[in-house]
Amino acid sequence: MGKMIEDLEGYFKSFSPRGDDLLAELQEEAEKENIPIVGPVMGQLLSIMAGVTGARRILELGTANGYSAIWFAKGCAVAGGKVVSLESDPEMAKRARKNFQRAGVADRVEVREGDAMTEMVAMKGLFDLIFLDIDKQSYAKVLGECERLLEPGGLLIADNTAFNDAKEFNAAIWESDKWEAVNLLTFLPHHSENYDGLCFAKRVLQHM
Ligand SMILES: C[S@@+](CC[C@H](N)C(=O)[O-])C[C@H]1O[C@@H](n2cnc3c(N)ncnc32)[C@H](O)[C@@H]1O
Repeated sequence: MGKMIEDLEGYFKSFSPRGDDLLAELQEEAEKENIPIVGPVMGQLLSIMAGVTGARRILELGTANGYSAIWFAKGCAVAGGKVVSLESDPEMAKRARKNFQRAGVADRVEVREGDAMTEMVAMKGLFDLIFLDIDKQSYAKVLGECERLLEPGGLLIADNTAFNDAKEFNAAIWESDKWEAVNLLTFLPHHSENYDGLCFAKRVLQHM
């Protein structure tokens, strides 16, 4: 295979998707205010995942200013998909709603204010894709609700699994017979300073 490319990180940074003007503005705003959004590489990845899975119902945990939810809304547009995003900070929820209006996706993205676990327990109906991006200690706590709310064969994506607080989740999903999971060590420009972890898991086909 020959030699590896030198300065791999610098090289891969040159392939960061641009997104549109509003996404670029929200990214800039998040950088200034230290709001930890996923950034354009991960945003594009989420959009592709929503598109190729044909997801029609997406559940996001952790809205912030709405950046990743807009990528999801773009990705699931062809399938006529909808996004429900959960956010505990009322100010963030308000900002996200404004941004959904500006992005022209407000009819397909709903923000629910409150603690993710509390909101999930009250939910009925199944999702095709669930994205975890809240405080990392909560990942293990909401895993059972993800099992309940995800279609058999549905996709769970968990961000930031390289943080210590995600270790309990990483062990739980690895050991569970309800998931087929891979946990990747990733380098995602504009997402993390260095490396992070990103988990993809399929809900196994038998619903218990
Ligand atoms: C990493 S940011 C989300 C970034 C967003 N997904 C993006 O990339 O555009 C995490 C957000 O989750 C919210 N949050 C943290 N813990 C939560 C919880 N237990 N329930 C609901 N929201 C939570 C925070 O207020 C914050 O806005």
